Formats: sequence, structure tokens, C-alpha cells
Amino acid sequence: MLSYRHSFHAGNFADVLKHTVQTLIIQALKQKSKPFVFCDTHAGAGRYDLTTEAGQKIAEYKQGIETIWLQNDIPEILDPYINLIKELNPNRQLINYPGSPLIADMLMHRNNRLELSELHPTDFMWLKQEFKEAKNINIVQKDGYKHLISKLPPIQRRALILIDPPYELKTEYDDVIKNIKLAYRKFSTGIYAIWYPVVSRQQVEDFSSQFKNTGIKNILRIEMCIKPDNEEYGMTGTGMIIINPPWKLKEQMQSILPWLLKHLKQDDSATIKIEALVHE
Ligand SMILES: C[S@@+](CC[C@H](N)C(=O)[O-])C[C@H]1O[C@@H](n2cnc3c(N)ncnc32)[C@H](O)[C@@H]1O
Repeated sequence: MLSYRHSFHAGNFADVLKHTVQTLIIQALKQKSKPFVFCDTHAGAGRYDLTTEAGQKIAEYKQGIETIWLQNDIPEILDPYINLIKELNPNRQLINYPGSPLIADMLMHRNNRLELSELHPTDFMWLKQEFKEAKNINIVQKDGYKHLISKLPPIQRRALILIDPPYELKTEYDDVIKNIKLAYRKFSTGIYAIWYPVVSRQQVEDFSSQFKNTGIKNILRIEMCIKPDNEEYGMTGTGMIIINPPWKLKEQMQSILPWLLKHLKQDDSATIKIEALVHE
């Protein structure tokens, strides 16, 4: 089943959190001159035009990137992310929103490698089109987990692995855990960043417990809920689980999450959480 299309959601508050975390991790990896790989198991289309019918249908970006990108008190830590948005929209009119592959490409040097998997035929086609000139980017229309496992460990021995499934099916939570265990067994020093929605609090807590039970150490959890938990509202919050986070990430997120929440919250009982799910 492939009914999920990210073009309906691009630039929403969940993308803001996910892409902020992605940007900060890539910036941390760039501190060393040694090359690294960015693996995106669920890559999407690469770039989204927010003015299209899909972008305008629910226009989630209006409660996401649009509310923050032109603020005049943006914390410096957010600059690398916000500067990408400004670069793609030079006339201060928000039209283009970068997906995770484009964010990686814009931040990484061409001696670094991108491994992108996308199953949906249309998004796969857009992704190929976006990067048709790039020799350092491998794009496959294959199951993202299978492709990931086949590439581990990377010869560079340094990687950010982004796992961003649509969670259309409840079984997708188990798929993440199963494949993280397989991937970690082959490559335990990589940085793994897993996105999750907060729709059902019980589901999120079960998912977190499953991570704790993997036996994997050094796991950070970052969560931002723009509304109180309530299964009737749909997605009320979003989070990232990060295995082997760069050492500064926790502190960076502690400093910027309150600012993000101030602009993105839709209720006064909105919350943030940054915790070591499993210590080193
Ligand atoms: C949330 S979107 C990805 C968004 C993208 N990572 C970003 O941040 O810009 C999830 C994508 O995964 C794709 N997908 C679903 N199952 C997949 C699988 N098993 N392997 C690869 N792609 C898959 C969907 O077609 C969809 O485009």
C-alpha cells in the first residue's frame, strides 16, 4: 500500500523538527574532514512546490515552516536549516520546501555519498529528476530497509541513516525495530535518526520501550507536541529517536526547542521532551 504522499504535508511542524535534527547532525559530521554517507530509507520526492494543488490542499506548512522562517529572533543554531529555506526562496515568498535528500545534498560536499530509496513511482521519478546531474547520489526504487542493510557497513565508516516511514500501517513500528536491530548488528557506530508521529500516546510509549529493549546504548529521544495528547486530533506531536547522537545535539535541542514550540504550538499545554532513552 502506497497511499501516503509527502507533498500534502511538506514543511509542516513535524518536518521542521525532523529537518532541524537532520541539519544539526550533518553539521556535526562535517566537523571532521573525513567523508560520510547519508542514507535515507524513505526519501520522498526530494523537493516540494508548496503552491501546487497538493501543497495547498491542507497547507500544513502554514502552521510549520511559514510561521518561523522570517522571524527576526531566529536562534543561531537554526541558521543552517533556515538558510537553506531562504536560499530556495530568494524572494521571501515561500514556494519551495526541501525534502530530506535535498537538505543533505545542499549541506554535504560532493565527495560525500547519498543513498536514497523511494518506493512510490511518482516520488521516485521526481527524486531521479532532482538529482539527475549528481554522480555521488544513488537512487533506487526499492524497499528502504533492504537497500540500507545491503549497504552496511559503509566503506567510509561514518553515516547518518534517516528512517522516516509514513506509519500508514501499525506494523511499520515493528518494521523499524526489526530493521534497526539488523542494521545495528552490521554497523553499530552509525548515527540512526528515526522519525515518529505522536498520534496515540500508548503507541509512542510502546515504541520507546521497544527501543529500550533492543539492548542498544546511547539513544536520545526528542519530542515536540503542539497540542495535548488526544487520539481524535490526528497528529498532535512529533519526535525523533537518535542512536549515537553527536555529543552536542542534546544541548543544541535544549536551547532551540522552546523557541520552536513558542512559534509552532497550537495550544498552551504544548510540551517538549528531550531525554536519554538509553544512556551510553
Ligand atoms: C514521510 S515520507 C518521506 C519524507 C522525506 N524523508 C523527507 O523528510 O523529505 C515517506 C516516504 O516513504 C515512501 N515509502 C513507504 N514505504 C517505503 C519503503 N518500504 N521503502 C522506501 N520508501 C517507502 C513513501 O512513498 C513516502 O514517499
